[in-house]
Amino acid sequence: MADGNRTAVVTGGSRGIGREVALRLASLGYDIAIVYVGDPAEAADTVSECEKKNVKAKAYICNVASFEETKNTIAEIVKDFGSNIAALVNNAGITRDGLIAMMKEEDWDSVISVNLKGAFNMIRHLSRLFIKNKGGRIVNISSVSGLMGNAGQINYSASKAGIVGLTKSTARELAAKNVTCNAVAPGFIRTDMTKNITEDNSELLRTIPLGRMGEAGDVADAVVFLLSSPYITGEVLRVDGGIAM
Ligand code: NAI
Repeated sequence: MADGNRTAVVTGGSRGIGREVALRLASLGYDIAIVYVGDPAEAADTVSECEKKNVKAKAYICNVASFEETKNTIAEIVKDFGSNIAALVNNAGITRDGLIAMMKEEDWDSVISVNLKGAFNMIRHLSRLFIKNKGGRIVNISSVSGLMGNAGQINYSASKAGIVGLTKSTARELAAKNVTCNAVAPGFIRTDMTKNITEDNSELLRTIPLGRMGEAGDVADAVVFLLSSPYITGEVLRVDGGIAM
């Protein structure tokens, strides 16, 4: 291809689910651009693991909640990797849990800004390139909290329900341009985000028909599947051990 390998942009790719997605895509021959905030050592480690699969990889510190930062970072990615960007995985996300009667305004704002506006910002700045390239694949990470609601997580579930609407509207709007947009809705996945949840909690296990938490690789499998399909768009695929069926 003119610009070398096809490139995948993975937000929150430095660790957890995003790291697993980046590694799977690197194994499939995608060059990997990781967008993250936080520990540079984690990002460097993911980059080096991707490079071991003989692809180009680079990490960019960028707050996805910022319209300007995401615009500039995408311009940098295109400069570094070329314009053959084939896939975007909007995985960056945070939680700031609390009961509605006590939730601080800043906790509402930050979760909506990172989880929902972050996905908008990335799609907003990459969609023209996808249209110009006559194709692209987008996968957004939602959550079962967005499908079912979850007490103590109104900000998070609102952001993840918003991702479903964003996904379906993007899918409808860009379908004619050969751009697909889907979502994955994970349940309880073992990562740093859920480190306070243990499987000793039998009440939690009772909510999961398969009786155990999932692994980051289970979510990455679903992301890779959706990125590989030319004919699935606007879908929300649960990876939750059956919680939200
Ligand atoms: P994690 O906390 O291990 O990793 C989050 C990643 O997002 C990190 O790479 C971090 O750098 C990045 N990030 C956070 N804020 C950012 C910002 N403002 N700008 C750019 N990057 C930012 O989380 P985990 O568990 O891997 O979750 C990944 C996604 O999956 C999130 O969207 C999360 O909401 C979702 N999810 C996770 C579940 C779980 O049980 N772990 C369940 C359902 C959904």
